[in-house]
Amino acid sequence: MRKKIVAGNWKMNKTFEEAKALTAELSGMIQAEVHTHTEVIICTPFPYLPTLQQMVGNGKIKTGAQNCSEQASGAYTGEVSAPMLKSIDIPYVIIGHSERRQYFNESYTQLAKKTDIALANGLTPIFCCGEPLAVRENNQHENLVREQIEASLFHLSAADIAKVVIAYEPVWAIGTGKTASAQQAQDMHEVIRKHLAQKYGEAVANAISILYGGSVNAGNAAELFACPDVDGGLVGGASLKSREFTDIVKAMKA
Ligand code: PGA
Repeated sequence: MRKKIVAGNWKMNKTFEEAKALTAELSGMIQAEVHTHTEVIICTPFPYLPTLQQMVGNGKIKTGAQNCSEQASGAYTGEVSAPMLKSIDIPYVIIGHSERRQYFNESYTQLAKKTDIALANGLTPIFCCGEPLAVRENNQHENLVREQIEASLFHLSAADIAKVVIAYEPVWAIGTGKTASAQQAQDMHEVIRKHLAQKYGEAVANAISILYGGSVNAGNAAELFACPDVDGGLVGGASLKSREFTDIVKAMKA
């Protein structure tokens, strides 16, 4: 069975006090209301990670960073490395979010290196892919997503790619309130899984969790999560509210 995962991507939101309050609320709600094996992750701003990691402890919620450097250490002012995240026991890191690709010009090669260094430090990368609207309108979305995965992940061994979580996030659905339909999500997830199977074989492809992201909310999560190749969600805006995020987690069937 593939791991079912609901990950919140807080992006650059919340003060420290707000972040602690949200984490405390979530811990209580998830503990009391969620009885499945769904992995629940909160990917928070860097400065809050040690405190929030301590707050969630070994409970049902795991923590993740939203990015890491492709370098291990050294003169890279402003960067945060995978060994640093490892040293504060952070299990997950988002790699290649479309906002990083778009605003910080992260390249395929750089994302390959970030994935490598995350894995080398025992972090689980949540590797994001997804097409902008113009690419979908030109019917090139499947090609682009295959290319994104191939360029940044296909150098990995089968053992290593099996540790990666993939998140398909169509750029036109992120923060827009416009979700991909369950059919559009399922179609792309199937394309991704087939591509993985061609390179690594069915067994490896079938073991990799593929999350959908892009305007997931408490109202649409159940339909998206019911798709056979959708193994959970990467949730932005709706992860900032404890009630809504918990309801999204509860939308995942055991
Ligand atoms: P959204 O963001 O849920 O606000 O659309 C998703 C993401 O960017 O991970």
